Amino acid sequence: MTRILHRSIAQDYPTAVSGKGVTIRDAEGRDYIDASGGAAVSCLGHSHPDVLAAMHAQLDQLAYAHTSFFTTKVAEQLGETLIADAPAGMGHVYYVSGGSEAVEAALKMARQYCVEIGQPQRTKFIARRQSYHGNTLGALAVGGNEWRRKQFAPLLIETHHVSAPFDYRGRRADESPEQYGERLAQELEAEIIRLGPDTVIGFIAETVGGATAGCITAPPGYFRRVREICDRHGVLLILDEVMCGMGRTGTLHACTQEGVAPDLMTIAKGLGGGFAPIGAVLVADRVFDAFRSGSGMFQHGHTYLGHPLACAAALAVQTVIKRDSLLDNVKAQGAHLARRLNERFGNHHHVGDIRGRGLFQAIELVADRGTKETFDPKHKLNARIKREAMARGLMVYPMGGTVDGVHGDHVLIAPPFIVDHSTIDVIVDRLAEAVDASLQDIA
Ligand SMILES: Cc1ncc(COP(=O)(O)O)c(C=O)c1O
Repeated sequence: MTRILHRSIAQDYPTAVSGKGVTIRDAEGRDYIDASGGAAVSCLGHSHPDVLAAMHAQLDQLAYAHTSFFTTKVAEQLGETLIADAPAGMGHVYYVSGGSEAVEAALKMARQYCVEIGQPQRTKFIARRQSYHGNTLGALAVGGNEWRRKQFAPLLIETHHVSAPFDYRGRRADESPEQYGERLAQELEAEIIRLGPDTVIGFIAETVGGATAGCITAPPGYFRRVREICDRHGVLLILDEVMCGMGRTGTLHACTQEGVAPDLMTIAKGLGGGFAPIGAVLVADRVFDAFRSGSGMFQHGHTYLGHPLACAAALAVQTVIKRDSLLDNVKAQGAHLARRLNERFGNHHHVGDIRGRGLFQAIELVADRGTKETFDPKHKLNARIKREAMARGLMVYPMGGTVDGVHGDHVLIAPPFIVDHSTIDVIVDRLAEAVDASLQDIA
């Protein structure tokens, strides 16, 4: 009997009681390797002593001070740190408590920017199909996962969706990756022109598509062309790095590898590493300057933004990542993970694609490798894999609807940045067992 409206009402969840390093233990004493960091959150694993110490110290000083009365030293220090390492031209940070809140704030900031610069006729967003930007109404509106949007569609703001880069399913046999990227960029420009360039506020995209499509990376040159197109039409580029950012792909920001800087960028998950709920929007100078010389404020705010305990956690997480050169480990272990996944699943009859970057990798399951046909959604293959993996003491992040919101299954693997070779070997072995057990009576 539970009084909680859990994510799935029918399901019984084990009770997590402790965590250490890459492992979570439940009330029955069972250990689970956290190979997905929850949902790509726990970048330092669990109970990191330096983060806990920083949080305890902050609690002893001050747990909360409302941001309409005070700033705090810890929030300012975190801001300095984030901006010191931000993409070029991004000079300010706006705090929130998670990814969806970050996306909501970025959408409102983008709209207010248009008003501040005297272009209030800009009211539309463009986003990508099969994207995930969160579950609040604004974030859901820009999100491109049809299943998640369907019943709430009448409540959502106007958003138009274009194709996301999806090499495995979207690139034609006669196209190079570069040509594919160019085709997608042209599709974006055509959509901007169709809508009327001066009616579009911004284009929002995950730099590496995460939860709903499973680690889809952009073809070379795609984001540089997107940046050019946005600039040409006065459309803001909003990159959502809630999942793929803060080091997960091997660089602090995924957009560094694409050679672009956005106008607004959302971060969360790995920012606080799960030690406290925190997210943020990084703001380009041109947006900040429009606010400063215009109304002088951003018309937004939440009770818990800039929470000192959350800022202390995030500051400690980011300090440890830098001090321990953990992004080097993300690159090294990411390469090992990709290698091991390819060894185990490269010839698997029901794994069509293995993709990702750094410690952000996915396998896509197919009924037929030749035709790329998906399994019937009625089998709920992704849910089976999750169950079988948990039964083997492994947390991975499987999801259905990979292709169009309904069809397709993938499994996302996103272990903490402290993971080592031998743990990755165990992760891949257990995942292979879980996948095979899940396929037993349906393949
Ligand atoms: C890219 C992206 N944006 C936004 C969100 C929403 O973040 P949250 O669940 O913290 O609200 C997620 C969550 O998975 C995400 O992956």
